[in-house]
Amino acid sequence: MTESHNPQTDSEASLRRDKARPFGRASSFPGYEKLKARTTTPTRDDVNSSRDALMSTYQRLPVAFVRGSGAYLWDENGRRYLDALSGVAVCNLGHAHPVLAAAIAEQASTVLHTSNIFRIALQEELGRRLTQLAGMEKAFFCNSGAEANEAAIKLARLHGHSRAIAEPQILVMEDSFHGRTMATLSATGNAKIQQGFEPLVQGFLRVPYGDLDAIAALADARDDIAAILVEPIQGEGGINIAPPGYLAGVRRLCDRNDWLMMLDEVQTGMCRTGRWFACQHEGVTPDVMALAKALGNGVPIGTSLAVGKAAALLSPGRHGSTFGGSPLACRAALAVIEVMERERLDERAAAIGAQILQRLRDALRGIAAVRDVRGRGMMIGIELDRPCAELVTQALAAGLLINVTADNVVRLLPPLIYGAEEVESLVSTLASVIARFAG
Ligand SMILES: Cc1ncc(COP(=O)(O)O)c(C=O)c1O
Repeated sequence: MTESHNPQTDSEASLRRDKARPFGRASSFPGYEKLKARTTTPTRDDVNSSRDALMSTYQRLPVAFVRGSGAYLWDENGRRYLDALSGVAVCNLGHAHPVLAAAIAEQASTVLHTSNIFRIALQEELGRRLTQLAGMEKAFFCNSGAEANEAAIKLARLHGHSRAIAEPQILVMEDSFHGRTMATLSATGNAKIQQGFEPLVQGFLRVPYGDLDAIAALADARDDIAAILVEPIQGEGGINIAPPGYLAGVRRLCDRNDWLMMLDEVQTGMCRTGRWFACQHEGVTPDVMALAKALGNGVPIGTSLAVGKAAALLSPGRHGSTFGGSPLACRAALAVIEVMERERLDERAAAIGAQILQRLRDALRGIAAVRDVRGRGMMIGIELDRPCAELVTQALAAGLLINVTADNVVRLLPPLIYGAEEVESLVSTLASVIARFAG
């Protein structure tokens, strides 16, 4: 039989094709190749000419990355850098993870956004997975760590009002960091972050981190406290690890006083410290847990998880977010969880982190300027006896990406997928950079 033209089946076929791809192929768009080249590999000229268009929020380093793979990033000159920062605790799976990349691409060509006024199956599934992992009941999805804490703060206020407290107070810690929105910077224990933004949001009482007696004293002195907001390990504050038993003690005080225990796990969550969530090291479950950063491995997503009375405080119209829990963000987070589970990244972070910690302690032992090397899992701090911000540029020049926080603490947050070669390279490069700096 010869092939014959059949107008009816031809147009049906073309209709089917159009339904599947009503816009045609991306590559057939006029100017697509030029746009793709510009947006995927900006030239140095592009980078320089558009820099002046940005508000001055960050003291940016003179490097722009154009590509990543695993634990490495490449700049526009093709130079490779070992990543020991993960975009500040975001890219826990490393860069360009194929499972995540495929999930995002597939979701982008299926549906990106529909609005929270409709059911979103991926959001329901992500809520189910996360609450199961964290021992919680309900999730509210947003886009960042600050927003996750904002939701927690609103829950605390609702809880306080449900107890007939007119102006509910939240206990927060010295040296804490909870974000840059007005409420979260007011909760943050760092005057530099608050300065210039007064009047601050009221309703926060501050106590020293790790000090249960200070909390107990306030419990005796006041009857207007509704909640505690605390990081299991302070990240921006300098990798400050609370003493053993601290979180369990906070839990007891919250139970005794009918306060919500709210943990900011934005930096410590998602396997970073060697457990899914840092509170699990102490077998403690909070009433509210804020997550973001590594949940999407670079796709913006945050969440506030809640259990018990905290999970029943919200009702329609009281809180929301246009983008929160979009199909794209939830698909990405589900892929992240799947990879973390399959590759047992919690256990891996615990084992590799312990190796890095030990190797760093050995390598830095003779350097008098090093006061302390501490950490849990792959959240590690090296405290020096002097301000050491220059170490960031010195490490960069040596092909290593690190961060300095609290003026004198080198902060390491490597992707959790490090192998022996990366551990070796991190320790030897960093030890020689610090030795030169301190010598
Ligand atoms: C513990 C903690 N909470 C909250 C935040 C704020 O998160 P975001 O920058 O996503 O708003 C951060 C960011 O560094 C953080 O480390």
